[in-house]
Amino acid sequence: MRMSVIGCGYLGAVHAAAMASIGHDVIGIDVDEAKVAMLQRGEAPFFEPQLGELLRQGIDAGRLRFTSRMADAGGADVHFLAVGTPQVQGGHAADLRYVDAAVDALLPHLRPGDVLAGKSTVPVGTAAAIARRVDPTGATVVWNPEFLREGWAVHDTLTPDRIVVGVPDSADGATAADTIRTAYSSAIDAGTPFLVTDLATAELVKGAANAFLATKISFINAMAEIADAAGADVTLLADALGHDTRIGRRYLGSGIGFGGGCLPKDIRAFAARAEELGRGESVVFLREVDAINLRRRDRAVQLVIDALDGRVFGRRIAVLGAAFKPFSDDIRDSPALDVAVRLRGLGADVIVTDPAAIDNAAAVHPQLGYARDRDDALRDADAVVVVTEWDEYRRDLSPAHAGGLVRNRIIIDGRNCLDAAAWRAAGWNYRGMGRR
Ligand code: UDX
Repeated sequence: MRMSVIGCGYLGAVHAAAMASIGHDVIGIDVDEAKVAMLQRGEAPFFEPQLGELLRQGIDAGRLRFTSRMADAGGADVHFLAVGTPQVQGGHAADLRYVDAAVDALLPHLRPGDVLAGKSTVPVGTAAAIARRVDPTGATVVWNPEFLREGWAVHDTLTPDRIVVGVPDSADGATAADTIRTAYSSAIDAGTPFLVTDLATAELVKGAANAFLATKISFINAMAEIADAAGADVTLLADALGHDTRIGRRYLGSGIGFGGGCLPKDIRAFAARAEELGRGESVVFLREVDAINLRRRDRAVQLVIDALDGRVFGRRIAVLGAAFKPFSDDIRDSPALDVAVRLRGLGADVIVTDPAAIDNAAAVHPQLGYARDRDDALRDADAVVVVTEWDEYRRDLSPAHAGGLVRNRIIIDGRNCLDAAAWRAAGWNYRGMGRR
């Protein structure tokens, strides 16, 4: 099947490479010519495991190419729309300017029978509005939300938990659903559930999934606040809760909270759209979810201040992590980097290290100190803060080794990812978040 993928960011580049890897003939389109050139050379423009390999295989097989010319989308059977929907400046809603621009540019190249499949996370109602513009071309608009996690994007795209497609209630809609089923036939044949819905439900599935995940994380972080006050341990609490199969242990990781390019902005846009629909009260809890999440960063900073007896100015603090989560170089709304910036704002001599995100972090926050080598960051530190649970810190850093490098054995575990007993046994003043 011939496909175009419009927008080659975290979502689109992976989608294009994954579709080519299962035998489709794919053209990826992006307005950023530098990015197109990298992709065309088979280089991933961002850190994503397996992506470079998949790109090179697709390009070498002649099934994958990248361009900045929208006209090259002409002739594809399915056009996947994968552009970004950031938060608007000065508000909580989603900024749809890239979606609108992509649709405008694509319109002249659509033919009757083509399928335009939106993948971007959009406010409910967007697909219907796009369909009104696309109708005169004879193409059909469907919505096919993406649920991929950064760091697992190739895995999640090739073996998704489910495939959802929202289609219009018409004969063309049924035909378009069959086209999407064919596009994903390898995953569907392997047992992936395939759900066909109306357009609005498909748009809502994505917002609702992100709202639920964010709520789960903030729920356990709210429990961490209570555990702190009560002298309990939130990680043991999460283990005990997680054994209840109705609850499950995943996404009950407590610490400095969620960030990244999706969850924070998506829950805000979801709430903003609910308000437009007159249902703001239905999602009032999402404001609390957001507020609990942001309080975690304050809490981590406070733990550092307390551990240093209030004397932060001029103290050397090693910050382990900058990416919003491991296996990513993404620093968008990274709680890790936010903690580092706040400590710097208090006058600390902050040294940030990260296996993948230093270049991105340094470009945005040149006021912070950086060390590519973990041990260089630790050397002579007055306190250590773990803010991204990379294996390099969680698994590979021994308390004895770190103890030989630092000035003070003070460690704040912002991700509750360390063995508290082992660190304490090695003479460290260990503080977790919601752990006694
Ligand atoms: C998320 C959703 O998982 C994905 O389905 C959606 O399509 C996009 O948003 P992603 O942003 O890649 O994906 O990251 P995810 O792995 O969900 O983590 C989001 C944030 O939550 C990270 O900052 C992570 O550190 C944090 N998190 C996650 C926790 O604090 N605790 C947890 O238990 C899990």
